[in-house]
Amino acid sequence: MPLISKVSLIQAPTPLHRLNRLSADLGLDLWIKRDDLTGFAMGGNKGRKLETMLADAIEQGAEVIVTCGAIQSNFIRQLGAACSVFGIQCAAAVMATPYEYQPPFVDGLRKENGNVLLDELLGVDLWRYADGTWEELYRYAEDVAESYEAKGRRVYRIPVGGSSPLGAYAFWEAGRELQGQIQEDKPFDWIVFASSSGSTQVGLCHCFRGTKTKVLGIASDPEPEISEDFAELSRGLAERLGEPPLIADDFRICFDMVGPGYGIPSKDGMDAIQLMARREGIFLDPIYSGKAFAGVLALAERNELSGRICFWHTGGVPTLFAI
Ligand SMILES: Cc1ncc(COP(=O)(O)O)c(C=O)c1O
Repeated sequence: MPLISKVSLIQAPTPLHRLNRLSADLGLDLWIKRDDLTGFAMGGNKGRKLETMLADAIEQGAEVIVTCGAIQSNFIRQLGAACSVFGIQCAAAVMATPYEYQPPFVDGLRKENGNVLLDELLGVDLWRYADGTWEELYRYAEDVAESYEAKGRRVYRIPVGGSSPLGAYAFWEAGRELQGQIQEDKPFDWIVFASSSGSTQVGLCHCFRGTKTKVLGIASDPEPEISEDFAELSRGLAERLGEPPLIADDFRICFDMVGPGYGIPSKDGMDAIQLMARREGIFLDPIYSGKAFAGVLALAERNELSGRICFWHTGGVPTLFAI
């Protein structure tokens, strides 16, 4: 196993506990893995990825880290906080509602408050772009990076959502963390979570390959070709782990819960957030974990999920304040 450097940002292991009331309501053995409680910058799955990526950035002498994403990105908030910890400038190209094929027909989250407020407190240099495709945003992020380089600053680039092989490696480790929290003779039948840029799913799929645990991502984005991106990410991770990569068909992804589009709250998602809050006192978010939990509910209803289930809470709660 190659040694991957890490800095320390989060409090791990994050808690794992049973959802007793929802288990009884739904006739499931339902558990929750609390990555909303990483103890870092209001929680979320990105803190894990940043431990590996920041170590790499520091090794490479980064003075500025440039990334991109939706304006209410949870990743940018956590990256901004990680940069504060290490005295690095964080810059991000952002747009309100990135779209792939066509503009969305309804509005997404607000362009202020929520994560934007936190980014501003952290001193993140936000470069706002009028809405367009992801490809356009990636090009704009490159302009941002080059403008810093033109001023003589050493720039480290991080792809959207922190989905590099290093980010996927962090989630391979997270899977091992979960394995260490349960009895060997009581593995989960399913792990279910919100999936988007892919390193959460790729890392977990590598960790649980060949076991009885099925890893299911509930997509926050409508594009079916994301599984090809996941396969590419898997090639980078597999190289580091010294094992064969996964292919696109190896990734179980449910696209039924995207609703009106990426970055736009859905009715099912909001109902699921309310149910989790009222039955368990836990907050989910409107773009990722709420839709993912709506997926758990819908699949359980259709008897497509059963047995011992781990719902992996990936965070995102600050966007509740930007609805
Ligand atoms: C709260 C939350 N959950 C899930 C995800 C998806 O994780 P990944 O990008 O690793 O697929 C994100 C990514 O932005 C997120 O912010």
